[in-house]
Amino acid sequence: MNERDTLKINAKGHLEIGGADTVELVEKFGTPLYVFDELHIRNMMRVYKETIDKEYCGNGLVTYASKAFSCKAIYSIARSENIGIDVVSGGELYTAISAGFPADKIYMHGNNKLVSELELAVDNNIGTVIIDSFREAELLDNICKKRSVVQNVLIRINPGVEAHTHAFVQTARTDSKFGFSISDGTAEEITSYVLKKSNLRLRGYHCHIGSQIFEKQSFVLAAEKVMDFMALMKVKLDFTADTIDIGGGFGIWYNNEDPKLKLSDYAEYLKALICAIKSKAKVLGLNEPFLILEPGRSIVGEAGITLYTVGAIKDIAGIKKYIAVDGGMFDNPRYALYQSKYYALLANRANEDCTEKVTIAGKCCESGDLIAVDVPLPKAESGDILAVLSTGAYNYSMASNYNRNFIPPAVLVNAGETEYIIKPQTFEDIVRNDIIPERLK
Ligand code: LLP
Repeated sequence: MNERDTLKINAKGHLEIGGADTVELVEKFGTPLYVFDELHIRNMMRVYKETIDKEYCGNGLVTYASKAFSCKAIYSIARSENIGIDVVSGGELYTAISAGFPADKIYMHGNNKLVSELELAVDNNIGTVIIDSFREAELLDNICKKRSVVQNVLIRINPGVEAHTHAFVQTARTDSKFGFSISDGTAEEITSYVLKKSNLRLRGYHCHIGSQIFEKQSFVLAAEKVMDFMALMKVKLDFTADTIDIGGGFGIWYNNEDPKLKLSDYAEYLKALICAIKSKAKVLGLNEPFLILEPGRSIVGEAGITLYTVGAIKDIAGIKKYIAVDGGMFDNPRYALYQSKYYALLANRANEDCTEKVTIAGKCCESGDLIAVDVPLPKAESGDILAVLSTGAYNYSMASNYNRNFIPPAVLVNAGETEYIIKPQTFEDIVRNDIIPERLK
């Protein structure tokens, strides 16, 4: 247990999250249900912000990468913590603006932003657009010209560092649909192109080296490479960048193969990065750049769990035991997509020893619709409540109405208080946009 542990087992043997008994949550809200602990989310936002304040004299901004979990309430929380956000679509931008999020702290990403998305961004005076193609630079410049405004931009570059969870690799040439490579000269070309656009104000560079990373050195190395490039652009193009955006990617605990980090560990990641940026600036004779971070998963991932009710149980002798729940790949597609491993437990009998290995299956008409494979569990019975942990990031945000199932609602827990932040869908929602043409009636 550490200070980030939002979960505990209470005297009744029930799993608790943020002071709320999960069995009571299920009585009140039903299943499947996403549950988020507000304090956990705030603590994560604060550790990044406070470390920048303390170690870098506040010369930076944490921008929550809201692709991890986007809804109005999360933007309200980010606003009250005084941090920024990263959005990647018109939908995320619209949600943030509807929640009253301050436009100047919005950073807009995406490798193929639509004209309508760029217009929405400019019309709402958002702070910064991260340029990811020549076409986009041109489109954005034209949109700004028509409105007689100048837009702050960063350019997404590939420093040739790719991180894979516990290791990283350095590559000469980056094969990615994102960004511009330093090594093949395109990062320099786009810099010179953007500098010529009169309605774009280039502030600096962004990179994102991967996700679910535990290797501190990979962030350091990426930052150093970006700063070397900044120094080069100063000499070659007389361009002085004042901002470095190092992206997101800090890892979280999903199951016992992952380390369980404390708040201070995340502070350490950031300290190492800041330290490297400071010394690199000194060596290169650059001013210390404004530092942007874009953590998504680490802010909401461990703060969230999903609660299900166990339904059908199928024991295929000598092969597998399937425990089917009332959710599935429509609320958590991460096993189907990435074979991600999750930790599951029976929330109503959380003290009981695990006696068998089971596969947790969803209710979709698809054999690959699994949530977790070969996980230890006490002998489950229909009606038990199953909790899957660390589902706060990239679960709701990647959910779908596959098989016309409902995307589950989400509840926010704060010191035992519980309320909806995303209400349940209804059959009416499911058919809302359907049209039967007259001739088919
Ligand atoms: N910034 C940029 C430009 C990104 O592309 C991402 C994630 C982030 C920040 C946030 O990274 P994080 O701190 O969350 O690792 N659907 C996948 C994850 C895709 C992440 C894409 N980009 C999953 O479920 O694991």
